[in-house]
Amino acid sequence: MKLILLGAPGAGKGTQAERICNKYNIPAISTGNIIREALKNQTEMGLKAKSFIDAGKLVPDEVVIGIIKDRLAKDDCQNGFILDGFPRTIPQAEALDEMGVEIDKVIDIEVSDEAIVGRMSGRRVCKDCGASYHLEFKKPQVDGKCDSCGAELIQRKDDHPDTVLDRLKVYHEQTEPLKDFYEKKGKLRIVEGQDSVDDTTAKTFKALED
Ligand code: AP5
Repeated sequence: MKLILLGAPGAGKGTQAERICNKYNIPAISTGNIIREALKNQTEMGLKAKSFIDAGKLVPDEVVIGIIKDRLAKDDCQNGFILDGFPRTIPQAEALDEMGVEIDKVIDIEVSDEAIVGRMSGRRVCKDCGASYHLEFKKPQVDGKCDSCGAELIQRKDDHPDTVLDRLKVYHEQTEPLKDFYEKKGKLRIVEGQDSVDDTTAKTFKALED
């Protein structure tokens, strides 16, 4: 199964991608995670991307298209994958078509801008392994510490309220048009993501199986 998860920043794509990946045993590929890892390792690409991410802007298309081309060529993608956070612009979606990738379904997780601002302000991530938590909805067992590796939990720089508003603006301008793009191809499935994580998972699995 080859899937795309669409949705605004903080709509819950990463959370649902992890659950789909466990159920269907296919890798979840997050361009955001790949870029943050490159940033942590101070690679050339990571350093190039830093100013865009910190400002809540999109990293240039040619950079992320290159990341995806390399990643999809790996062996673990041959039986399917979930793309979380790619494509985010029409040129990125066209590049995926040009690569000959046949997507089965595009799941769009819909959450209001107001709810997103609340979710992002409560998100905390592990500074070492990147695992994601929420102060209210997904608390770690020990305050401020990662359940998996025990490292400190921090707030992502781009989760600060002003940057979140910029990211939402970018989403509405550049990413939302992808709904139309995939609707016309008959691939789009809308999932209401406003309720609990488990409710959203149930709706996502239903959309995948319909
Ligand atoms: P990326 O990491 O992809 O950020 P994003 O799309 O903005 O997604 P997030 O990780 O912020 O949110 P999410 O939807 O995964 O939500 P999550 O499950 O964590 O990208 C970061 C940056 O990289 C971009 O801004 C851009 O600069 C660059 N980039 C990446 N890809 C790119 C591309 N293709 N082109 C160009 N640039 C690119 O949930 C959020 C929080 O809410 C969590 O705390 C979670 O616990 C909680 N939560 C989740 N679901 C629920 C629920 N149902 N109820 C309550 N809380 C919930």
